[in-house]
Amino acid sequence: MKKKQPTSVVTGAAGFLGSHLADLLLARGHKVIGIDNFITGSVNNISHLGGSPNFKFIEQDVTEFIFLEVPVHYVWHFASPASPVDYLNFPIQTLKVGSLGTHKALGLAKIKDARFLLASTSEIYGDPLVHPQTEEYWGNVNPLGPRGCYDEAKRFAEALTMAYHREHQVKTRIVRIFNTYGPRMRLNDGRVVPAFISQALKNKPVTVFGKGRQTRSFCYVSDLIEGIYRLMMSNYHLPVNIGNPTEMTMLQFAGQIIHATRSRSKIVSNRCRRMIRNNAGPTSPAREKFSVGRRKFPCTKG
Ligand SMILES: NC(=O)c1ccc[n+]([C@@H]2O[C@H](COP(=O)([O-])OP(=O)(O)OC[C@H]3O[C@@H](n4cnc5c(N)ncnc54)[C@H](O)[C@@H]3O)[C@@H](O)[C@H]2O)c1
Repeated sequence: MKKKQPTSVVTGAAGFLGSHLADLLLARGHKVIGIDNFITGSVNNISHLGGSPNFKFIEQDVTEFIFLEVPVHYVWHFASPASPVDYLNFPIQTLKVGSLGTHKALGLAKIKDARFLLASTSEIYGDPLVHPQTEEYWGNVNPLGPRGCYDEAKRFAEALTMAYHREHQVKTRIVRIFNTYGPRMRLNDGRVVPAFISQALKNKPVTVFGKGRQTRSFCYVSDLIEGIYRLMMSNYHLPVNIGNPTEMTMLQFAGQIIHATRSRSKIVSNRCRRMIRNNAGPTSPAREKFSVGRRKFPCTKG
């Protein structure tokens, strides 16, 4: 007998990660319903899907009730401003989509008896005091600082997801995404990969903060999306970090970008940013390293 075609709902489908997820789901035979209000996303990210009979798009704010008449098998909740520039511009919308939006997306999963996956973040660890960060670490977050709108929204979203799992037995998954890069990132979205590439391509100074000793690890988008897909298909309901375990300093990274782009750029230090460190200002954590703790989770079906 022919296998029934699954239907996936992707919130934030017009964003960087949501659009790549929609591509992968369509390639794996899903029907996809994308929902987005374009607060930070772009129609350009999904315009190539316009002719697909398996892709439907709904322009909607997911903090409002999500009503769908069709059966739904998977809900992938990716809607949220994600770059520091965006969530500092939209702090209230960020808190609303993490709280009310997650509530509506979980409600949809519950009523449809669908599996639910929350796109959470390494930022829930705040300015971590433990390196590398395993999923057991509870984090070091300042709720009052400008970044608190994002970190606390995601922490609330994780707590709500676990509550739906425990109280309503919704089959939930939580992925904590570490820095990811790839096509469809906006050059001006404030994240370090497009920022360095854009500076290097223009032969402009590549700016690191302080001495550039902050470390990050970067995961390519297709690797991340594959990991997320496998997590959804697994039986594992506790949070899972997904990222690249190779850590490098911003100085090393700037050097690699200059080398790869054959740029004449020089690396310069932007010292102002040092004054707003320690999670009191809009800077990022001094050290953020992916831990390989729970990378293996049992998969049921693909
Ligand atoms: N890109 C990363 O490196 C990274 C790292 C950690 C976590 N994440 C998480 O992954 C998800 C996607 O991130 P991204 O990088 O694709 O960001 P993005 O800004 O490119 O995409 C987010 C999408 O959500 C949409 N959106 C926001 N609020 C909405 C609302 N109320 N209703 C409907 N749509 C709404 C935006 O318009 C946008 O299209 C986010 O939840 C983010 O927190 C991303």
